[in-house]
Amino acid sequence: MPLTVCAISGSLRRASFNTALLRAAVELAPADVEIRIFDGLRDLPHYDADLDGPNPPAPVVALKDAITSADALLIATPEYNYSIPGALKNAIDWASRPAGKSPLNRKPAAILGASTGLMGTVRAQLALRQSLLFTETYVLMKPEIMVTRAADKFDADGRLIDETTRGLVRQLLEALSTWTARMRT
Ligand SMILES: Cc1cc2nc3c(=O)[nH]c(=O)nc-3n(C[C@H](O)[C@H](O)[C@H](O)COP(=O)(O)O)c2cc1C
Repeated sequence: MPLTVCAISGSLRRASFNTALLRAAVELAPADVEIRIFDGLRDLPHYDADLDGPNPPAPVVALKDAITSADALLIATPEYNYSIPGALKNAIDWASRPAGKSPLNRKPAAILGASTGLMGTVRAQLALRQSLLFTETYVLMKPEIMVTRAADKFDADGRLIDETTRGLVRQLLEALSTWTARMRT
């Protein structure tokens, strides 16, 4: 059985390094891992409990279905002001309901991130882990992928050209595959 992974980028930017990182993951995935990039974050309304009833907005349904139908989750986050972008937090907030039995509950996941700075999203990834603690999402611990100076690691077409990072992405996907199999048993 192939492992299906729902991949979410925290950046809405067309030339996003984080979305490019997910495209690299698609390219570098082991043969038995199928990664589907979810591209619907910009369509989500701001989280509003009044909209979060029996008939939630269609983009929310699409997000929850994408996560539910995948075996695992892969999130690439930029760092905005030492944390995760609001659009990504908003998506997590929608996906986190109902608490305790949401699509994020007990979902195996891996995270990674790219920034143009020297810290490579280390603070954003910690913030992301913190939110995913409450949702009881099983976030893989290693390897950590913090892409620093992202502008040097992708070519003009957004292809990941840094061999060290490419190797780490491969390792992360192999580890996610093992992690997901372990969580199933
Ligand atoms: C609002 C804003 C805040 C940012 N804050 C940080 C930050 O705290 N740390 C950091 O390393 N980079 C920060 N950056 C730079 C981002 O890392 C850089 O724009 C990166 O390319 C964004 O990811 P993307 O290419 O996937 O869109 C910030 C950028 C923006 C627009």
